[in-house]
Amino acid sequence: MESFVFATSARIEFGAGRVAQLPQLVAGLGARPLVVTGGRPQRLAAVTGSLTDSAVFAVAQEPTFDIARAGLAAALSHGADVVVGLGGGSVLDTAKIIAALASNGGDPLDYAEVIGAGQPLSRPALPVVAVPTTSGTGSEVTANGVLAAPEHSVKVSLRSTTMLPRVALVDPALTLDLPPAVTAHSGLDALVQCVEPFVTPFANPLTDGFARTGIARSGRSLRRAYADGSDLAARTDLALASLLSGLCLANAKLGAAHGIAAPAGGLLGAPHGAITAAVMPAVCRHNLAAARAGQAPRAVEERYAEVGYLLTGRRTPEAGIEWFAQTAALLGVEGLASYGLTEAQIPALAEASARSSSSKGNPVSLTPSDFEAILTESL
Ligand SMILES: NC(=O)c1ccc[n+]([C@@H]2O[C@H](COP(=O)([O-])OP(=O)(O)OC[C@H]3O[C@@H](n4cnc5c(N)ncnc54)[C@H](O)[C@@H]3O)[C@@H](O)[C@H]2O)c1
Repeated sequence: MESFVFATSARIEFGAGRVAQLPQLVAGLGARPLVVTGGRPQRLAAVTGSLTDSAVFAVAQEPTFDIARAGLAAALSHGADVVVGLGGGSVLDTAKIIAALASNGGDPLDYAEVIGAGQPLSRPALPVVAVPTTSGTGSEVTANGVLAAPEHSVKVSLRSTTMLPRVALVDPALTLDLPPAVTAHSGLDALVQCVEPFVTPFANPLTDGFARTGIARSGRSLRRAYADGSDLAARTDLALASLLSGLCLANAKLGAAHGIAAPAGGLLGAPHGAITAAVMPAVCRHNLAAARAGQAPRAVEERYAEVGYLLTGRRTPEAGIEWFAQTAALLGVEGLASYGLTEAQIPALAEASARSSSSKGNPVSLTPSDFEAILTESL
């Protein structure tokens, strides 16, 4: 019997030029916006300037616990009653976490998974309007925010349906100036975020439909957007794929590629999407071999074959895996050694990957020695 829950942002606005709606949408939610944006706020000054009585908090890197604390202080001193996230996944996650902390009180460690107390965020967060400027994370429709804890060499989430943004405002034109490396890393991550929820046993009919569309749109436009960042049709496909990937990951589960990325991101400091892309071919090969050996449902092999069909027109698992590996190489993603992983670090990273929450969505239950094999293959 099918049985599932599907939760997402209350309103999704999508399309080139939609950012013009931002002042009106924000005014409907509060009078004192805190605008969380990237390290170069002047890049989006025309958008932030359109919001009256606003204060700006800039996030120049993937967020840490200290950045979240500083953002909370900025929200409280401004008396913010609505939070706008205008930037990449780093910015959107920070905005969502600030909004949750502003109404729940306390410190981010009180609510963090794995290294924190994991308390529930029971009070409604301040309303968030999430406006992505990368096409990668889908954070505009997800119920978590990721923080790095460099002292623990790990990245962990704060998670609650109360963290779902009130509005996801996705304007593909905002991604036209994304540099090729960010296009590559974020675009490949969105594709992984469609594939892992498509092969997980936690998939449901809604996430399946979104995943199929996201995989097909990524397949036809990822290489095009990398080659020509000004191609609005390709940018639109990638923005949609990213949005769909967020709907999928928030309502199904991810898998071993993201299970590795959580501890590897904390250890290596490499871009999140570069890590998921670097390990994805080995993860798929491992899952496929296990399915063929009867250690996972046969349906897993069919799912990978469908991914192959959506990406290449050839209905075999190998076609999809080969296309992904070739595309990642074409887009400049290298092996994990190039991001600083050494052979000596593999056993501890494999242990941490096996424990990570995303690994629970993998279609095959993987041991630390399986993760060691995947990491060695991905070096
Ligand atoms: N909450 C979730 O569901 C979720 C899912 C996946 C990843 N994440 C997190 O998201 C973060 C990664 O986000 P990301 O991949 O979007 O990268 P990012 O937000 O870190 O941005 C990457 C770089 O691109 C720049 N940038 C952003 N938009 C730009 C634009 N339009 N033009 C030029 N430069 C631009 C940023 O300033 C930054 O230097 C990680 O911390 C990851 O853990 C969260």
